[in-house]
Amino acid sequence: MTLEIRPFTRADIPFGMMLTDAEEWYRVPADWARLLRIEPDGAFKAVADGIPAGTAAVLTHDRLAWVHSVIVLKELRHRGIGEALLRACLEFVDRRGMPTTKLDGVEGTEPFYARLGFREEYPSWRLLADGIPGQPKATRLRPKDHAAVLAYDRQRTGLDRHRALEAILDDYPDRAFLVRARGKIRGYIILRRGEHRDPVGPWVAEPDDPGTAAVLLASVLAVAGKQKLRMCVGGYQETGLRIAEELGFTRADHSTRMARGEPFEESRACYAMISAEKG
Ligand SMILES: CC(C)(COP(=O)(O)OP(=O)(O)OC[C@H]1O[C@@H](n2cnc3c(N)ncnc32)[C@H](O)[C@@H]1OP(=O)(O)O)[C@@H](O)C(=O)NCCC(=O)NCCS
Repeated sequence: MTLEIRPFTRADIPFGMMLTDAEEWYRVPADWARLLRIEPDGAFKAVADGIPAGTAAVLTHDRLAWVHSVIVLKELRHRGIGEALLRACLEFVDRRGMPTTKLDGVEGTEPFYARLGFREEYPSWRLLADGIPGQPKATRLRPKDHAAVLAYDRQRTGLDRHRALEAILDDYPDRAFLVRARGKIRGYIILRRGEHRDPVGPWVAEPDDPGTAAVLLASVLAVAGKQKLRMCVGGYQETGLRIAEELGFTRADHSTRMARGEPFEESRACYAMISAEKG
């Protein structure tokens, strides 16, 4: 078998969709397009004997890299294609001088990632809920708030995530909320659109203010109406898990958060991830 690793480009989005649909990852073409917009050089495609065989990609937020979209065609697995794709991601990460790389490994794939230096951190929960039609209590986030929200996110998470956040805010201007107290931001949340279920995240709020975090989550449940929701919450985020369950979310399954390189402790202000792909 000849194996080449090439850049994954916009022309490869239908192939990417075929792979994510087969895994039931509920990705839509706009998600792939946004990932390429945020990190155009960080996506890879494996070509085996001239045929597209798999994908893997990486997205960097400041000092933290995030590997995602690692999929090999079912009939071509166990031939080293996955490992070659993952190596391409890690070379990208090393070229950028990223101290830490993380990912959410689907249950069962941990040994595959451990071989290239990833260690297990904690379960990363996927939660599901139905929307509850109603009036959001949090304030709608407006374009004039963007700069303040990006600054708040940076301060609370310790990471500059503006490329991913700006892209999501541009795509979903009507589905973001914030809470302010005495003029200061206390938290914000964004609801994206997805296939079958709308993904919630990021959900960022003061770690010691679960009341604000709950108002934000209740607001996206209200704006979702009859739409079904899903959300990823790290196992370290006990408060986020408790609030979500109190508001009707149930735990579906979990992946395993894995990390490589320098330890990077995720902020307790991160109640839910941006997304499984974006960390
Ligand atoms: C995870 C995944 C990407 C691995 O892809 P892959 O191409 O099979 O990966 P590799 O071939 O490099 O390694 C997988 C296994 O094949 C074995 N292998 C590697 N080369 C081999 C060869 N030439 N002959 C036989 N086995 C081989 C490896 O030992 C490895 O075994 P292990 O995982 O039990 O330790 C693939 O299984 C997949 O697409 N899964 C579904 C999507 C998914 O869950 N992705 C992960 C998201 S976090």
